[in-house]
Amino acid sequence: MTILVLHGPNLDLLGVREPGHYGTESLASLSAGLDALAQKLGVTLEHFQSNHEGELIDRVHQAWHDGVAGLVVNPAGYTHSSVALRDALLATRLPFVEVHLSNVHAREDFRRTSLFADAAEGVISGLGPDSYALGLRGLAAVLESRSATG
Ligand code: DQA
Repeated sequence: MTILVLHGPNLDLLGVREPGHYGTESLASLSAGLDALAQKLGVTLEHFQSNHEGELIDRVHQAWHDGVAGLVVNPAGYTHSSVALRDALLATRLPFVEVHLSNVHAREDFRRTSLFADAAEGVISGLGPDSYALGLRGLAAVLESRSATG
């Protein structure tokens, strides 16, 4: 089973970007940690980060064409603005978990609005890289139980 981990804009700068909010771990290190967890869970990960909305949308379409089972998504700034990325996830009907490194509810008001949360299997926010790890565990469990029950 393959899961796509999708990262939105500015997450390529993890480690140097506003460490008070996003910590000091790089995206490469976070991804390596997730790969190790995925191995334990018996799933395969693909990773994709882009600063461009259309590229993220194209990658969701590609995942659907490729038969990817679901996504762990941090839409980053697009969380609060991208109808088009939300539409891509709804169009493909791929199950996904929304994750955020920071607690979006403890920051500016505009970060409290997510265009993804109501369509997500679950949302995890505020636990740093553990948000991704927990999101991956949760999504793998959802997909497992769905494949067991058909
Ligand atoms: C973020 C939170 C968003 O509000 C912000 O725009 C990001 C990162 C997070 O992981 O905490 O870029 O998604």
